[in-house]
Formats: sequence, structure tokens, C-alpha cells
Amino acid sequence: MRPEKDCRLCGLCEGRTNIVLPDGCYDSGIIFVGEAPGENEDIEGRPFVGRSGKILEGMMAEAGFSRSDVLITNTVKCRPPKNRDPTPGEMAACRPFLESELYDAELVIGLGKSACRDLMGYEGRMDEVVNVPITIRIRDRDVNFIPTYHPAATIYNKNSRAELRKTIELVGGMLR
Ligand code: URA
Repeated sequence: MRPEKDCRLCGLCEGRTNIVLPDGCYDSGIIFVGEAPGENEDIEGRPFVGRSGKILEGMMAEAGFSRSDVLITNTVKCRPPKNRDPTPGEMAACRPFLESELYDAELVIGLGKSACRDLMGYEGRMDEVVNVPITIRIRDRDVNFIPTYHPAATIYNKNSRAELRKTIELVGGMLR
């Protein structure tokens, strides 16, 4: 299930250039969920192609795989103005698309606070849940989920970088 080309289910349609659909391998069973497209993603119509994407791709390469081995998506498919966090209403409008992406997953990785808020209903500190596996309910299925840091949160923070690396190494192990 995908948004219509001219989707107007929420106000983010007003400022978008492109709807940013998932990218990578739909059959891998491993799905990374970010927050929302940024400026570069909005222009290219592809998730994680800017600075955060470079960090993610670098860590994936170190762990022996590439973005084309997994699926990469976001909680909302259109860029919020000035890169603000997506609102609960915007996430709810996009939720049916996200659920159809995650429904069959073997493992979902939530990158950062917004993804964890949307998928776990978690509002607390990331350091209390990072890399602690849980299951989340997607329609009538329990899906394995690992909360971790957003790549952007690792730029100036060694500890969050180490934790994100750990998550990505775990995925590398699953793919081997
Ligand atoms: N940050 C995100 O959360 N998603 C993207 O697609 C790019 C940057």
C-alpha cells in the first residue's frame, strides 16, 4: 500500500517536492525506520541520501552489508517544514503505509526518538531503551523491534555512535 501520487492525507503535502517511498530490498525482512525526509530526500525522492544517510551507509559497510540489502523507510513520507518533528496527526495519517511496509518484517529498527514514539509509543530517554529488543504490534502481528539512535544523534556523541554501530553489527550478523 502506497500513498497516491498527489496524496493530501495531511498538511505535509503543502511543502513537499517528492513523496519519499521506501528504498532497498523489500524481501530482506529487515527494515530501518527513520523520522522523516529532510531537504535532500525531498529533492531526490529517496530516504537517507543526505548526511544521516552517509553515516548509516558507512556503518553498514563496516558491518559488511549495504543499504540495498535492507529496506529503509520513514515514519512519514513527506518532509516537515524546516525539518521539524512530524506531529502525531501526520504520523497517524501516514501510518497505514508504514504498517503495510512493516507487517511481514523479521526485524524493524527504529532510528531515533520519532520512530520510537510512533512505533513503541515511547516518550522517554533513548539511553534507557537503546538496543533492548521488544516486539511491537503491527495490525494482528507481533514484530521484532530494536530501538536505536538516529544517525544524526551520533555526529557529536561517541556513546550513541557506538550504540548505533552495535545495532548495525547485529543486522550484519543476521544477513551473514
Ligand atoms: N533523516 C531521517 O529520519 N530520514 C531520512 O530519510 C533522512 C534523514
